[in-house]
Amino acid sequence: MADKIRIGIIGAGNIAQSAHIPAYLEQDDVELYAVYDINESRAKEVAEKFGFKHAVRSLDELVGMEELDAVSVCTWNNGHKDAVIAAANAGKHILCEKPMAMTVEETEAMAEAVRKNNVVFMMGFVNRFRIESKIIKELADAGKFGEIYYAKCGIVRRRGTPLGWFTDLSKSGGGPVIDLGVHAIDVTWYYMGKPEPESVSAVTYSKIGDYKTKGVSRWEALDTDNLVFETEDSAAALIRFKNGASMTVDVTWAINGKERSIFSEIYGTKAGASLDPFCIYGEEAGYLMNCTPVAEPENMFNNEIRHFIDCIKLGQQPIATLEDGMAVQKILNGIYDSARLGREVKL
Ligand SMILES: NC(=O)c1ccc[n+]([C@@H]2O[C@H](COP(=O)([O-])OP(=O)(O)OC[C@H]3O[C@@H](n4cnc5c(N)ncnc54)[C@H](O)[C@@H]3O)[C@@H](O)[C@H]2O)c1
Repeated sequence: MADKIRIGIIGAGNIAQSAHIPAYLEQDDVELYAVYDINESRAKEVAEKFGFKHAVRSLDELVGMEELDAVSVCTWNNGHKDAVIAAANAGKHILCEKPMAMTVEETEAMAEAVRKNNVVFMMGFVNRFRIESKIIKELADAGKFGEIYYAKCGIVRRRGTPLGWFTDLSKSGGGPVIDLGVHAIDVTWYYMGKPEPESVSAVTYSKIGDYKTKGVSRWEALDTDNLVFETEDSAAALIRFKNGASMTVDVTWAINGKERSIFSEIYGTKAGASLDPFCIYGEEAGYLMNCTPVAEPENMFNNEIRHFIDCIKLGQQPIATLEDGMAVQKILNGIYDSARLGREVKL
């Protein structure tokens, strides 16, 4: 391997341009090597704008480049499976945007290719790379919360349906559950020590989900033509774990109620924690004590990309693994199954 890790981008849209590429540019030991997008002119523009050596015209061409070490998979959700399998089979290390895929079956096919080829695979579970998450996780691992038996999490947008492919079921695989729930569920499950899921009971609704409301800002995919609305716009779920713990989830793109950016609250027998507002809820000398650890804010995407590069260089397993991506996908698809069937489902 050369001194610099040579990176390829698969899917050069919003998240690639606003988060992955800028974070790679922050690293001294990374070279932006090649970019591929189904939109050929976008690949060329991005290569020129950010200084990639090559813009290529097919996935096979990209993963077949001998000098390439690793890729970021930043396509629509329906492109993750093929991109990951092709990259793994070509021996390239992979950072895969969330969600891992659209279905559990897709994640199994991806896992087979990753395991067979022994490449580093990291899930883009970026909320694990917030400084607050690092602190909560360290405290949890040190036993400061006691037994974590309950958690609440979610992201509540009042009118925040993203523009573009997100609402097209064939490209996204689902609405706010798969788009936002993935973040909230993952980071909370991580704080809890990744207990094994047992069952889920969920409801989904599609009652508001349009784009008519004025004066609101939304995440925008780079292509916003041809809008269809085929997904849920809100959902709630109760997940039970085999160790007796449970988690409630509340995610919406559109609802007539109070907004809430990502929240994650864990409740333990000794203390609890909240990601936002960042607070540890404990007891000291017989008094209830709220405490907020002091730490400089950090850019979570820079932390994520740095960790990916370190794992490649040191041959280490990332903190957001293939198995984590698969477990979270099981929960996401379990939420949809439960909502469709109108009952609790085993996971
Ligand atoms: N981590 C986060 O917070 C976060 C935020 C937004 C989006 N995302 C994820 O990033 C991914 C991309 O989202 P986005 O908002 O950047 O969308 P986008 O539409 O702006 O960008 C996707 C790009 O991928 C290209 N593309 C689509 N299918 C392709 C394929 N099979 N091969 C090659 N190129 C392909 C499109 O032409 C487009 O340029 C999604 O999986 C999304 O869930 C993550």
